[in-house]
Amino acid sequence: MSSSTTLAGAHPPTPGTALWVHAHPRHRSLNGRLFQEGVRELSGRWEVVTSDLYAQGFDPVLGDRDLGERAGQPGGIAELVGEAYAEGSLPADVRAEQAKLAAAQLLVLQFPLWWYGPPAVLKGWFDRVLTAGFAYGDLDPDLAVPRRYGDGGLVGRRALVVVTAGEDARSIGARGISGDLESLLFPLTHGVLWYVGIETLDLHVVHDADALDARGVEREVERLRKRLSTVDAEPVRRFRRLRDGDYAGTRALREDLLPGRTDLGIHLLAPDGPEGPEGPEGPEGPEGPAGDPPPSTAASPAREGPRP
Ligand SMILES: Cc1cc2nc3c(=O)[nH]c(=O)nc-3n(C[C@H](O)[C@H](O)[C@H](O)COP(=O)(O)O)c2cc1C
Repeated sequence: MSSSTTLAGAHPPTPGTALWVHAHPRHRSLNGRLFQEGVRELSGRWEVVTSDLYAQGFDPVLGDRDLGERAGQPGGIAELVGEAYAEGSLPADVRAEQAKLAAAQLLVLQFPLWWYGPPAVLKGWFDRVLTAGFAYGDLDPDLAVPRRYGDGGLVGRRALVVVTAGEDARSIGARGISGDLESLLFPLTHGVLWYVGIETLDLHVVHDADALDARGVEREVERLRKRLSTVDAEPVRRFRRLRDGDYAGTRALREDLLPGRTDLGIHLLAPDGPEGPEGPEGPEGPEGPAGDPPPSTAASPAREGPRP
């Protein structure tokens, strides 16, 4: 991700357009149901485009095919893929996904938790679609810092992560044996989405997913519908932006900010602090959508201490 490929420009989203990316092999599953009903609900107010990755046979393996005629050339793969993007020679399936993402104002990523993370098909979608030049790659002309972490090619978008997990809320909570879900998904919410400029909403989690009976599934469908009905008005997470100086001179948080803390929550701004990206007014409202358990994990805004 250290490519110096020049970003051709940000991609202004089309207002009212959403992209729903679904990563589950079976339509007759909890995830299949949430996908169908979720898209139906969202379509009432949004122009919804879908990427049903298994159904469309998306190949998640970044490799020579993405490089085209550059496959035999020396150089870093991120750089070479960025060059292929710039000349429009990426494979058609990648270009199609980039076009969908470029248009989307809202991104929904929906998947079951597999081995503490998203299924490989979704990881591969990031690998192949979020190329240099398209999603990241240039320097801020005024600040001379890379346009990443809260800035970049996909700035101006929000993402809702919908995840089902076999574990119950405590097993995957702050002291859970699985580690807390916020931290498990930090590579996604921060390392992928925030890296390319996309803000995230609070996770939408279905716990105990394998133990749900028919009524439990209906309850979860309804809870997702309700969440989606107000998704436009939700506050976003307030991760720190690279451009704001909190990581001055390096990519480690400045020593004077939250001294002594090393948890992933240090990369969030205090919920009501004076130094948020929106300025001294602070965020639009309290964290956490109605119906969801309050955030209680290591990377949660609720655990963010005051800034000195
Ligand atoms: C390969 C695989 C790995 C899994 N790993 C986890 C895990 O790390 N944590 C967890 O809570 N559940 C895990 N599960 C359980 C799934 O999250 C669960 O079966 C799924 O969310 C149920 O949704 P579905 O019926 O739509 O498949 C795993 C399941 C599979 C098949």
